[in-house]
Amino acid sequence: MSAVSDPHVVNVAIIGGGLMGRELAAALQRWPALIDHPVSPRLTAVCDVNPAALEWFRSVPTVTTLVTDYHDLLSDPTVDVVYVAVRHDLHEQIYTDVINAGKSLLAEKPFGIDRAAADAIVAATNAHPESFVRCSSEMPFFPGAQMALRYVQSGALGRIVEAKNSFLHSSDLDVNKPINWKRQRAFCGDAGVMNDLGLHAWHVPLRLGWVPEAVYAVLQNIVPERQGPDGVPVPCDTWDNAVLHSEVLHDGYTFPLTTETKRIDPGEKNTWVFEAIGMDGGVRFSTKNPKCVEVFSVIDVPGGGREQSWQQLDAGSQSVWPTVTGPNFESGFSDSILQMWAAFLAERAGQLGDGFGCVRPEEAAFTHRLYAAAAASHQSGNRTAV
Ligand SMILES: NC(=O)c1ccc[n+]([C@@H]2O[C@H](COP(=O)([O-])OP(=O)(O)OC[C@H]3O[C@@H](n4cnc5c(N)ncnc54)[C@H](O)[C@@H]3O)[C@@H](O)[C@H]2O)c1
Repeated sequence: MSAVSDPHVVNVAIIGGGLMGRELAAALQRWPALIDHPVSPRLTAVCDVNPAALEWFRSVPTVTTLVTDYHDLLSDPTVDVVYVAVRHDLHEQIYTDVINAGKSLLAEKPFGIDRAAADAIVAATNAHPESFVRCSSEMPFFPGAQMALRYVQSGALGRIVEAKNSFLHSSDLDVNKPINWKRQRAFCGDAGVMNDLGLHAWHVPLRLGWVPEAVYAVLQNIVPERQGPDGVPVPCDTWDNAVLHSEVLHDGYTFPLTTETKRIDPGEKNTWVFEAIGMDGGVRFSTKNPKCVEVFSVIDVPGGGREQSWQQLDAGSQSVWPTVTGPNFESGFSDSILQMWAAFLAERAGQLGDGFGCVRPEEAAFTHRLYAAAAASHQSGNRTAV
């Protein structure tokens, strides 16, 4: 009997088989956890300039192609979707090549090293509507983050008093950690930690329509040198921490929105925090305690009258796309990657409905305007228009 190609199958290729490339390969092998997803992705091809990085992918049963030149993947008509996870200085060239080849793209953040690169990628996207393009940001796919988002969308906050979204690391607390490309301006970009972590902190605010008019930023380069490959100190010339205080016009009034992105926040490993406070309600979620969502209201306390109260809810396991996982079970980072891909491929297939989707090209490009305004604000010491 001849093989019949399944229209639901989507062939995925990876360019950049490092930390994040392997994460995707693992996530796709958990695809059966999703219930009634419209497509069935298969990782078939991987490219990395480092042949040693390709070895790991030999254990993935669906992978048939391992190459060191990504053009070999782009000329392969069987490849439908490409995930690119490479250094920031390579984004513009590789992303535009993928888009110009007519392949769909899930790009890694920051979607180009700077504003000009992001604009060039958006221009390529607009010129190739057959290429479905989104950018990676998985933390909002934690069930607790989705619960917090739905709380805000319900209008339960009333008039918004303030909001905050943070992404906090402490991976650079060790001053003896050697330099790598993520800590060098030439490869990471002028925006430094904002390029690394910023999109995680802006995905939800921008999707809620909280678009800042102006920012006041404080940026820090806390460790200006690190040891190079031969042990000799070299410049570590990127911003480590960035705090952006911004002003959002919403429903005819403004409220402060703070985003924090930090490589050095002692005690934090990979903590994404969202908090929104209003006159009628409030909501908080942190991946530090990933089951817990806190909501604020004024309640009747039996025998105690009306009191202000933060209450805790358990978020359970369900996020954007339903899974076979019991609804009361826990969720983690690898689940959020699976959910992000479920949303990306469902939206590409036109079947996400009003479900929460991945970062759009114009949202990603806008974050570079925010980072440029933040840099100007830090330099001048003034509030700066975006
Ligand atoms: N979404 C997230 O949570 C998250 C986390 C970490 C990194 N990232 C992003 O992912 C991207 C990659 O980061 P990473 O941590 O995986 O980096 P990495 O250094 O671990 O891996 C990058 C890989 O790309 C390969 N490479 C370099 N040039 C190439 C080329 N021309 N063609 C093919 N392969 C090439 C390298 O050999 C390396 O194996 C960056 O944009 C980064 O900001 C996202």
